[in-house]
Amino acid sequence: MESQAKSRVSYQELGLVNTKKMFAAAVKGGFAIPAYNFNNLEQLQAIVTGCAESDSPFILQVSSGARKYANDILLRHLARGAVELLGALNPNVKFALHLDHGDTLELCKSCIDSGFSSVMIDGSHHPFEKNIELTRQVVEYAHKYDVSVEGELGVLAGIEDEVSSEHSHYTQPGEVEEFVKKTGVDSLAISIGTSHGATKFTPEQCTRSPEGVLVPPPLRFDILREIEKRIPGFPIVLHGASSVLPQYVEMINANGGKLKDAVGIPVPQLRDAARSAVCKVNIDSDGRLVVTGVIRKIFAEKPAEFDPRKYLGPARDALKAMIIDKNRNVLGSAGRAKEIFG
Ligand code: G3H
Ligand code: 13P
Ligand code: ZN
Repeated sequence: MESQAKSRVSYQELGLVNTKKMFAAAVKGGFAIPAYNFNNLEQLQAIVTGCAESDSPFILQVSSGARKYANDILLRHLARGAVELLGALNPNVKFALHLDHGDTLELCKSCIDSGFSSVMIDGSHHPFEKNIELTRQVVEYAHKYDVSVEGELGVLAGIEDEVSSEHSHYTQPGEVEEFVKKTGVDSLAISIGTSHGATKFTPEQCTRSPEGVLVPPPLRFDILREIEKRIPGFPIVLHGASSVLPQYVEMINANGGKLKDAVGIPVPQLRDAARSAVCKVNIDSDGRLVVTGVIRKIFAEKPAEFDPRKYLGPARDALKAMIIDKNRNVLGSAGRAKEIFG
């Protein structure tokens, strides 16, 4: 479902913010801004009310697939509605509307022209020079409108919408200075061992705890530190950062699902990352697991239920609780809205 807005709408008109102030505060304060992916109304309700309640700035992110799914015109009005709702719930909380994994200049321009305040151009699968050139072109257009741009160096394993790779390639610290300087990006996504989706690692890549639980290989904090040294104070982004919440994997599998060997990034490592130069943490899969787990359980326990509000409502409430928990206990973004925007 795709349609093009007729005239240009700026994010300022929608009441959104770019990522500048939030990233500056995150770098200084040793926390990270949550970037939650969304496609539908219930997810939006959970993100907005969860961040309002925990007083957290946030990034609402949309992949190109999600934008098609939700419809770009509706999306713009949903963002405007979310701003209005936040004004009523907690006026200190502001958010950026961000394109996740944009793959072309045209897509980035289209998002900027329909009210996005931030875009990612993911040229990570291109050779270095081509990545620089594509990213630079997006920055040139975006900065005319004060829209923030995220670039990526290094490749994550897993599915990234239009971009997918079987194997990860860690970010090479030697490339980051040149990339940042030549492109003018506002933040940089890196690859240090995270990956997209619910099955981030094969069992062969993991070890097993004495209880038989899969333990993933640790993130490459040595690479992160090397990057930090080369571009001090520059905002770093961590994709593929879901912890693949075990209680929801269990709930899914106990109610007819089949998620085998689903394992994510351990929470203590996410906390360490949030305290470092990582100032944006992307979370999609954990939200999907929560929603799917709750719906599967309700379908299994109440097979006669057919009112969508009776299963989407509880799924939304559980998602909201997950968001509050991430903001408070993993990323440290809770309670920060006032100092940034108040
Ligand atoms: O990185 C990818 C995000 O999880 C978005 O996924 O392209 O299926 O919407 P999607
Ligand atoms: P997860 O699949 O780990 O939630 O990562 C999402 C992401 O990086 C979106 O860009
Ligand atoms: Zn991603």
